[in-house]
Formats: sequence, C-alpha cells, structure tokens
Amino acid sequence: MSDPAAVRRALRALFSPLGCPDPYPHYAVLREHGPVSRLPDGTVVVSRHADCDRVLRDPLFRVEDDAYLARTWPEGRDHLSVFSLMGEMVNQNSPHHERLRRLVGRAFTPRRVAGLRPAVEKLVDGLLDGLAERAAGGAPVDLMEHFALPLPITVIGELLGIPEEDRAWFAPRVQAVTSAIEQNLAGEALERADEATAELWDRLGALAARRQEDPRADLVSTLIAVREEDGDRLTRRELLANLVLLYSAGYETTSNLIGNGTAVLLDRPDLLARLRGEPERIDAWVEEMLRFDPPIQIASRWAGEDTELGGVAVAQGSQVVALLASANRDPARHGDPDVFRPDRAPGGSLTFGAGAHYCLGAALARLEAAIAFPRLLARFPSIAHAGTGAPRNRMTSLRGYAELPLLLS
Ligand code: HEM
Repeated sequence: MSDPAAVRRALRALFSPLGCPDPYPHYAVLREHGPVSRLPDGTVVVSRHADCDRVLRDPLFRVEDDAYLARTWPEGRDHLSVFSLMGEMVNQNSPHHERLRRLVGRAFTPRRVAGLRPAVEKLVDGLLDGLAERAAGGAPVDLMEHFALPLPITVIGELLGIPEEDRAWFAPRVQAVTSAIEQNLAGEALERADEATAELWDRLGALAARRQEDPRADLVSTLIAVREEDGDRLTRRELLANLVLLYSAGYETTSNLIGNGTAVLLDRPDLLARLRGEPERIDAWVEEMLRFDPPIQIASRWAGEDTELGGVAVAQGSQVVALLASANRDPARHGDPDVFRPDRAPGGSLTFGAGAHYCLGAALARLEAAIAFPRLLARFPSIAHAGTGAPRNRMTSLRGYAELPLLLS
C-alpha cells in the first residue's frame, strides 16, 4: 500500500546532506510504500531487489559517461579530477566499457589476486603486531586507523607495484577523490580532488615511465604491456585514470567491509564467539557481512530511453538511483533479511553490483577480509568496543566508520 508522506520522510532522511546514521528502517518504508519513488529533483529511487538488479543489468540504464557530462556539465572536463573520473571504466558505457574492462581484466586476473595471498597474510600479521603493541596496558586502539585503512591501501600498492616507502603517500589523496565523489563533485571537495588527482597522475605517470623502461611482474607493468590482437592498448589517460580507479574503488570500500563487519560482531557477542569456533567458514561469514551492511549503498544510472520500472513510467534522461543496501534487505529475496545469518545460502546480494560493471576487485576484497577476520580473532581472545563511541563518516552512498576504538587483549 502506498503512503506518500512516509515515503517523503524516508527519502528526506536518506538523502539529507548530513547523511543517515541508520538507513535500514527507511529502506524498509520505501520497499513497502514506494518501491519506485522520486526525489524532489525528479531522480527515480528504486529499493526492491528485482528493480535494483534490473537497473544494474539492463544496458538501457547507462552510467554517467563523457557524453552525458558534455550535455549536463560541459565545463566539468576542465576539472582534472572529473576528466580522470570520466576515463575510468566504471564511467563508460558499451562499447568503450567492454574494451577497457577487457584490457584491464587481462592484467588484473584471478591468478594475480590469488597470488597476493602470502603478501596479504604477512601484512595482516604485521598490522596485528602493531595493534597488540598499541593495545598493551588496556589502551583503546582505533581499528580503522591502524588496521582497516592501512590494509587495503597497502595491498593495492603491492598489486600495482608501488615502492613500499611510497604507499602511505597515496591514502589521503585517494580519500580526497572519494570524498569529492560522495559530495557530488562540488565546492572545496572538488578543488581538493583536482589537486589530489594532479599529484596522483604525476606519481603514477612517473612509475609507469619507469616500468616502461624496466618492466617488473607488477600490474602497472602488465597494464602497459597488454595489447589486444589488433594492437589496441590503453592510452595514457586510460592507464592513469584506471590506476586511480583501482585505488579509489579498492581502498575505503574494503576498509569499511572490515570496519562494518567487526562492528556487527561486537554488537552480537554470540556471533563473535561462534565465528571464533568456525574460522574455516569465514567465506560464508564475509558474504553475510557484505550483504548485511554494505560499504557502497547506492549505484547511479540514467535512462537512455523511455521505459518503466515496477509499473512507473521513467522518461528518457531521468536519473535513477538503485539502493543496493536496500535490495540486500528485501524480504522477497532473503528470508529474515534484518537478521545476520552466516549460514544463509550464498548469492543474491548486490553489494558488488551486477551486470557489466560487476566489481572487478570482488575477489580481492573477499580475500583480504577472509584473511583479516580469523587472524584478528585468533590474535585477540578478547575484543570489545572501547566505549568511546564509533562515529560514522560515510553514511549514505558509502557507509563506514570514521573511528572504531577497541579494547584488545
Ligand atoms: C568490499 C569492497 C568492495 C565493494 C563493496 C565494491 C563495490 C563495487 C560496486 C558496487 C561496483 C559497481 C558500481 C556500479 O555498478 O556503478 C564496483 C565496481 C568496481 N570495483 Fe569494486 N568494490 C570493492 C572492492 C574493490 C577492490 C578491492 C577493487 C580493486 C582493487 C575494486 C575495483 C572495482 C572496479 C575497477 C570497478 C569497476 C568495474 C566496471 O566498471 O566494470 N573494487 N565495486
């Protein structure tokens, strides 16, 4: 049954500029009372699994690419960060998207990801040593700062072949790019992202030039070398933009998987105890963490033609927002969706998207989490909130904690 007032309240809460600390009850209102609803600016918002899945898979719904930008914000290209974003595969439609995905996919293979396991294990153990040192004597330790954030940024550095001493340099610059995307590429956030992108392009460009001269086994060298049979290869813009994409897509997303997953375990001591007893089932636990509180809550598209969604007319050119995290809690797809159940049948979550743009790094994110959680639990027989609060900084389109202070012993 529709309830327009409840739908308006839910949309206002979800899309408030301050973000929404607990979006899940609002998603439930939308699924029930307005599964295809509209924001005041006309953006169509879909919240049920079936509609979100269609928006992601149906090529009629297009990502915002160069052509879209030229129509809606032609001066956008003057911003280096926007020019770089538009060179990323995630902002390209067919046929450009397939071409980029094929070229990058030839370098970023399942074998290369699996080959990172020993490096990730070593890195996790090193970070756990650091946590143990900081936690000695009962001091609270921030899991985000000292574990969840350094892990993925270092792993991407390892994957790309960034020299070890340079890896910490990337974190604030990549965060500046991500924050600007979250704040709709406007204001000071956009200026910071332009500066950060210029610095990232310089650094990555210099690295690419070194690898061109002296190739190694890393992803940057392979990306420079990959060619299609017809000789097609990445241009300089495509190479640099998609290196920045790997950094920005793989960094805070994976950090927030670790942070959000840890918070679920701490809120439910029975779950924490259960996972300690079955670390061999970690893959299923990670799947449920991904479904339950996903690091990316939203995916955006626009309608390339007039169409309909759930019986509602959608005009050509309309923005469409798919609430991935709401789809993951749709009772039509998952029984007891608000209950964390690590024994669910796998599959059906939209956390990594679906269709042509399905996350290229899903296997890497899963690998990092599957190594991180059992080792964290094995190292610390006691893990608890430090009682100083756990503020979120990413809430609506990205979701994660700014800090997660813990007592570890
Ligand atoms: C838990 C961690 C992660 C989550 C939740 C996540 C989520 C997503 C989602 C939802 C999309 C699709 C966006 C859309 O359709 O508009 C996506 C795309 C992508 N992700 Fe991830 N991601 C994660 C980790 C990673 C990692 C570790 C990497 C690589 C280092 C990565 C690289 C990419 C790339 C390159 C794309 C674009 C694919 C394309 O356009 O074809 N992601 N990711």
